[in-house]
Amino acid sequence: MTAPPSHDPRHDPRQARQWIAQAARIAVLTGAGVSAESGVPTFRDAQTGLWTHFRPEDLATEQAFRAHPQRVWDWYAERREMLRGVQPNAGHHALTAFQQRHPGRLTLITQNVDGLHQRAGSTGVLALHGNLSADRWLDPCALARRPQDACPVERAEPGRPPHCAQCGNLARPDVVWFGEMLPAETLAAASRAARECQVMLVAGTSGQVYPAAGLALQARQAGAKVIVVNPAPTELDEVAHAVLTGTSAQLLPELLDGQ
Ligand code: OAD
Repeated sequence: MTAPPSHDPRHDPRQARQWIAQAARIAVLTGAGVSAESGVPTFRDAQTGLWTHFRPEDLATEQAFRAHPQRVWDWYAERREMLRGVQPNAGHHALTAFQQRHPGRLTLITQNVDGLHQRAGSTGVLALHGNLSADRWLDPCALARRPQDACPVERAEPGRPPHCAQCGNLARPDVVWFGEMLPAETLAAASRAARECQVMLVAGTSGQVYPAAGLALQARQAGAKVIVVNPAPTELDEVAHAVLTGTSAQLLPELLDGQ
């Protein structure tokens, strides 16, 4: 164990480790912080350089994309480019290794769109906010005969959002933007995992964005122990039975390795 021993059980990783050992089902909710030690800026820290003038809430919306498609596309292009150079860290690997040692025992729910859990080898990841590396059409094809038909031809020019050669429809990142619904089946599966677990581990999220943050409350109401892992205070600390102060690359292995 690397964390200093604490006599307050609410801050003691050993107590949390014991709860995990005893839990038949564990749900893990991760946020941007678990990728911080891979070099990915957290969602609310990501506004560097040109982007310091914009709040994420002003870029990650359909309204922003419709008004300024090139600006929003460039913001995502920069994040996509950055992801090419990063690797999963010890926190991602500890979760994957635990899943491999205990098939079916740990459900991994993430708000992250960076794909690092999947790249570390985690399976069945419930990606609540989509996937940064994929695109989808903004609208149904204006010229399609049936409403469900997608645009027929995508035309891509370097650095520009791809568009439909026929109707001009734009491709957009396949992520959930502010004000949009989460994928219903994924959210339902996450909610089920939260209600059925005995331990919910919440790592690297500020707990500010719903419905994701509400999963911790659901787990608590269903009788689970809730453990928060974060170097800073979060909105979910009040819901938690244990609040462990530290980084996920340090604390997730400490909680999960060897059991
Ligand atoms: P935030 O950027 O809001 O919060 C990141 C959290 O990570 C903060 O609580 C930090 O203290 C913590 N953190 C920083 N470094 C860490 C480390 N090394 N280990 C562990 N934790 C660390 O990101 P999220 O909570 O993920 O949604 O944001 C949730 C959602 O808000 C995102 O998925 C995004 C945004 O709206 C959408 O785009 C829909």
